[in-house]
Amino acid sequence: MSSFEIFQISDPHLSPARPQFVPNFEIARDLIDGFRPDLVVCTGDLTVEAPDRPAELEFARQALDSLRSPRKVIPGNHDVGDNPDAGHAPERPVCAEWLAAYERVFGDGRWVMREAAWTLIGLNAQLFNSGLPQEAAQLDWLADRLDGAAGPVAIFCHKPLFCEVPDETPALRPFFVPTATRPALVGLLRRADVRLFASGHVHQGRDRTQAGVRHVWAPPVSFVLPDAMQPRYGTKACGLVRYRFTPDALAVEMLYPEQLMSPAEDIVAQAYAA
Ligand SMILES: [Fe+2]
Ligand SMILES: [Fe+2]
Repeated sequence: MSSFEIFQISDPHLSPARPQFVPNFEIARDLIDGFRPDLVVCTGDLTVEAPDRPAELEFARQALDSLRSPRKVIPGNHDVGDNPDAGHAPERPVCAEWLAAYERVFGDGRWVMREAAWTLIGLNAQLFNSGLPQEAAQLDWLADRLDGAAGPVAIFCHKPLFCEVPDETPALRPFFVPTATRPALVGLLRRADVRLFASGHVHQGRDRTQAGVRHVWAPPVSFVLPDAMQPRYGTKACGLVRYRFTPDALAVEMLYPEQLMSPAEDIVAQAYAA
């Protein structure tokens, strides 16, 4: 296939017990179904809090399987627990038990495919700086995939690689790949013709090109947070991203459909209430 279309969705935060964001997922799904892309990639936070309510994983799988297009997923911090960083000790640290629960439902948290001369790679961002044996295994696997990539490469990862620059101030850390991981990861990515680093997690949309790499933050399907709760780095609106990959080019379209509104602040708070 000389042209390959992907719709990226992120952070649907699906749950049967906390169904506040299900309507937004259904709106996004119906919009995507109208385009019938070749693939849908969901970049994590499939659930509201799977470590607390593992049944959310199966609920999210069924929702994603209702898409008419094939789909690929990667986990986020709300699916398998979060990864630590200097000065950031997560409330629910990623662990073997929660990773295994995710894998039983969705399979491996990393994947690779070849389409339109591109190598498309999904990474489990939650392993970075985790100290789990899977962390080193994933980096070895990534090195092999990058060394074997003959053409351009696109990476899908729950967390953005950085906010402004790889060695930025620690105050920005919790929203991005842990600073301890960045030197090794950035070094690995330079081994291939990486042109896209697509992420979610921040619940803000952004599309910037730095050092020849397009860093696309998918807006959330589910909800955005007010400025009082989270700094503004990009566009705070619900949406999705449309990509067209051709052998030597990439087209990116950020979509903020008017039907896809963020629920009111109190509804978001209810979904995350103890
Ligand atoms: Fe999220
Ligand atoms: Fe997240």
